[in-house]
Amino acid sequence: MNASDTPFDDTTSDSSREHDARRDIVVTAALPYANADLHLGHMVEATMTDIWVRFQRLRGHQCRWIWASDTHGTPIMLRAQDEGITPEALIERVGDAHRRDYQGFLCDYDIFYTTHSDENRDCAQTIYKRLREAGHIQERKIEQLYDPQKQMFLPDRYVKGVCPNCNAADQYGDNCEVCAATYDATELKNPLSVVSGEKPELRESLQYFFHMAPFKAQLQDWLQHAVPQEELRNKIEEWFDGDLQDWDISRNAPYFGFEIPDAPGKYFYVWMDAPIGYMSSHLHYCTQQHTLAQWEAAWAPGSRTELHHIIGKDIVRFHTMLWPATLSGAGYRVPTSVRAHGFLTVNGAKMSKSRGTFIKARTYLEHFDAEYLRYYFAAKLNGGVDDIDLNLEDLVARCNSDLVGKVVNIASRCASFLSRHFDAQLAESLPEPTLYAQFTDEADAIAEHYEHYQFAQAVRRIMALADLANQYIADAEPWVLAKDPQRQPEVQGICTQGVNLFRVIAIYLQPILPKLADKAAAYFGESAFQWEDIFQARLGGTVQAFKPMLTRLDTKQTQALLDATKLDLEEEAKITGSAAAPTAAAPTPAPAYAPIAPTIEYDDFAKLDLRVARVISAEAVEGSKKLLRFELDLGHETRTVFSGIRTAYDPETLAGRHVIMVANLAPRKMRFGLSEGMILSAGDEDIYLLGADDGAQAGMQVL
Ligand code: MSP
Ligand code: ZN
Repeated sequence: MNASDTPFDDTTSDSSREHDARRDIVVTAALPYANADLHLGHMVEATMTDIWVRFQRLRGHQCRWIWASDTHGTPIMLRAQDEGITPEALIERVGDAHRRDYQGFLCDYDIFYTTHSDENRDCAQTIYKRLREAGHIQERKIEQLYDPQKQMFLPDRYVKGVCPNCNAADQYGDNCEVCAATYDATELKNPLSVVSGEKPELRESLQYFFHMAPFKAQLQDWLQHAVPQEELRNKIEEWFDGDLQDWDISRNAPYFGFEIPDAPGKYFYVWMDAPIGYMSSHLHYCTQQHTLAQWEAAWAPGSRTELHHIIGKDIVRFHTMLWPATLSGAGYRVPTSVRAHGFLTVNGAKMSKSRGTFIKARTYLEHFDAEYLRYYFAAKLNGGVDDIDLNLEDLVARCNSDLVGKVVNIASRCASFLSRHFDAQLAESLPEPTLYAQFTDEADAIAEHYEHYQFAQAVRRIMALADLANQYIADAEPWVLAKDPQRQPEVQGICTQGVNLFRVIAIYLQPILPKLADKAAAYFGESAFQWEDIFQARLGGTVQAFKPMLTRLDTKQTQALLDATKLDLEEEAKITGSAAAPTAAAPTPAPAYAPIAPTIEYDDFAKLDLRVARVISAEAVEGSKKLLRFELDLGHETRTVFSGIRTAYDPETLAGRHVIMVANLAPRKMRFGLSEGMILSAGDEDIYLLGADDGAQAGMQVL
């Protein structure tokens, strides 16, 4: 098969699929690395995927959620070594913990398998052989940094040194956090191995590259329909400006992964076999279900089965370049869509262990019910790629007001009258059919929002309905009428109307709040709801005893969760011997302390003119994940300075602060403009601005 004469099939493109009879859908969320516990950031994706999957099933479609652990690569190998166990034991333990956490968050996946499986080895090797036969694999000798003590080649993130561009110390081997330059690890000055602390040496070795150029045009076409988020698509299109870079898909032993056929001592790079894990886990699932024919149909070119990937914005390149090219080059179908979400921040800043905001999924579940966070995330997921902020006080306030105060309140007010005065018997008809119709009239709009992952918009519409229902009950005042024996039928009618409005809302919310919906169904004596059930109000029969559906949250729980999160950090430090332990999001060990730079003379130091500066303004730099642009007041002049602290600070909170700056640093031209000095900050995993004590003024010299 040759890429250039195999057009990507478009048959599964997006046009008005919504009203197709019964869709056949495979959905994936990214496969979490099996070397660390899950945190609340992971739950953004889990919630997003689960809501969409449950929505499709509620609408009667066949929707399979295929999931697994991502088990290969250097971080997993090293973590197992640190713990003194085999990688197999590590990935099994972590995989089990992940399953438990995801289930705790009510994720209704069909399978959660592993990339370290026979199926995945077979699929990866088959795909590789097909790519090779089609001429897509090239051999090349390259030089890489090698740790002579650990006897291993070092991935970029396992080398630290001085930035070749701006001379900042302690930068990783792929890019500089200070000046945002990207470079090869071999260009770092004074490199040191993060694993052993030793100086690495350059060694040459043979590697296997996936040649991407022939896929360029196809990928660009495919993007147009497979990446529906415009903002994201524009970003991806920028990557197509030049030639597509070839992808090194091999790694040298020692490596935890699969060996490359006919290449002893060479392993597939983890990102080669990880997405293949979607395919092989689906294979395992279909084998278990005795539906192998469905697997074959799903992965064949031109397949009618939809294949949707939900991922974080950090792994878009792998899913929109490497993965579709892999599939196409090996003669398989390409994904129907790739959809990304933003990152979770806590109180406006990146989750951080030292700030105590690195909240584990399990720890959350010990203090709060999963549905509150699911609702909170849903209310913020709007189909875009912006980051999502979690503020626990806000979560408590929002859930109490929307879920307890509005939604459940409708039912509890009416249910008590029905059971006390009417033997739990519903009236034969609705007193306000027009109001009921107003609720069902929203069905298409709400469904459309769910379909396009605009859960925030769906929630807004549903809450507007909850307001209407509460208003109806408040105006009808059943508690006043109930005192008048003549008006009992009216009371029964109002309450029947009320619980039916609640029922419609519960069905609309079911993808987000499945437990609440189950309790609502049980109250009406129904088994699981289907979307169409909204069009049939419950009349005449009896309802079950009403059980409280959600309890009001207390801000004390917030403090308890934060306290427990601090304990988690201490536990983690005991295992890894470092507070700055690698995290799942960035599985990279950082040394606890950067090595001290070579000695300088006093005269060298005296050349530095350090000043107190006042931040006039700070703003994010478009196109950079790391940089903020500062306007600084130096007392007698203002300066523009770029500083790589965006991940740690919300720019809006910085105006008015005093920082310390190097005032006589030669101006440097950066990709985003001229930087006239440098702001001092400290840290390793996290970044902290250095400040001045009270009384220090802009322009003062640091003595
Ligand atoms: N193993 C890879 C994915 C392979 S897919 C074939 C990986 N694993 S991960 O554990 O680091 O991340 C799993 C998913 O969680 C990714 O989509 C990632 O973007 C997402 N998140 C990790 N941290 C996150 C936040 N703080 N916020 C939101 N999502 C984040 O990447
Ligand atoms: Zn730099």
